[in-house]
Amino acid sequence: MIASKLKLLASLSILSLANAATIQQPRSSPKEPFPQTHGTDLNIHDPSIVRSGDTYYSYGVDTHIPIHSAPSLDGPWTRLGNALDADSVIPKGDRTAPWAPNTIALNGKFYIYYGVSQAGCRDSAIGVAVSDHPGPGNWTDHGPIIQTGTGKGSGKYPFSTSNAIDPSVVIASGQPYLNFGSYWSGIWQVPLKEDLISLGDNVKSDSRHLAAEPKAMFPGGNNPDANCRDDSGSHPIEGAFISYHFPYFYLWYSHGKCCDLDPKALPKPGDEYSIRVGRSSNPQGPYTDKSGKDLVDGGGELIYGSNRDVYAPGGQAVLTDIGGDILYYHYLNSSVSYDFNTAKFGWNRLEYEDGWPVAQY
Ligand SMILES: *[C@@H]1O[C@H](CO)[C@@H](O)[C@H](O)[C@H]1NC(C)=O
Ligand SMILES: *[C@@H]1O[C@H](CO)[C@@H](O)[C@H](O)[C@H]1NC(C)=O
Repeated sequence: MIASKLKLLASLSILSLANAATIQQPRSSPKEPFPQTHGTDLNIHDPSIVRSGDTYYSYGVDTHIPIHSAPSLDGPWTRLGNALDADSVIPKGDRTAPWAPNTIALNGKFYIYYGVSQAGCRDSAIGVAVSDHPGPGNWTDHGPIIQTGTGKGSGKYPFSTSNAIDPSVVIASGQPYLNFGSYWSGIWQVPLKEDLISLGDNVKSDSRHLAAEPKAMFPGGNNPDANCRDDSGSHPIEGAFISYHFPYFYLWYSHGKCCDLDPKALPKPGDEYSIRVGRSSNPQGPYTDKSGKDLVDGGGELIYGSNRDVYAPGGQAVLTDIGGDILYYHYLNSSVSYDFNTAKFGWNRLEYEDGWPVAQY
């Protein structure tokens, strides 16, 4: 997420909730377009979950990447400690509390991809820490894989046009890909090497632009640092994650305003954070929505948004669990606070209709 300080000026058409109207849930009232969340007491922003044996581990945004564990997604969640013993080795931005970690497990090793940046700027980097255990205690911080704004490689395409935060890694037919991006030109994908900690060789030919918000939904700011404003306006799309459910890859992302929400001047309904998706038969895209519109052109299906006391859900990912796919995310509780530090962990089961995910209770 990008904690932009920008205030809402532009207003856009309200999103169609027509797709969601077909959802039938025992717990949903006719007025609610989405099923109720499984809310929890886990205080977290931009959650990432892995299951190891019978235990779920969560990774979130705070000092040195806090780790919690629980016997089920509903909790009880127990704080175990932090992944990093110290600040990120990358000398940039918010290195004390890296942003939006994404943790994956492969061949007995665990990899946490994280971002360092500062609010509203694209002077950013994605780093990775590796351990042989999902809990705290033995993570090695390998530092940056990619950088934007300043630093090694930041002048090269696609880093010259993107913002290196909100990482996620998908491995397809043995080839790992790093998805990333926030605001500016949106969501990008680059190949990784098999070691999962370094950038692939064929970046120029194998990088892909996966999704974008063409509309300027908010003002782009007037910060004198060109890395900290967008003269074309602000394009709120971020938090990419790719899941697989036969026979498609699904590109999930968060759309709209995540942070710095003023309860007295909330964004127009539909302009706050929500969870959207597109699909492709190729991990490298192109990803399209139900109408066939490419996500790079602003396409995308709304899968989960504000409902009841859930406000601005996002920072999502999908866990392929024993019983099926789980969509999980953070949300604000509108009966409690709009302060993003109060965000909680929530989740819903996914079912697929005609190959499109539908949130269930
Ligand atoms: C929101 O907070 C209220 C008051 O604490 C609580 O009753 C409710 O269950 C919460 N809702 C969610 C989705 O967390
Ligand atoms: C800690 O990590 C190192 C390097 O990955 C590994 O060689 C070592 O066995 C690990 N130690 C423990 C106690 O897990």
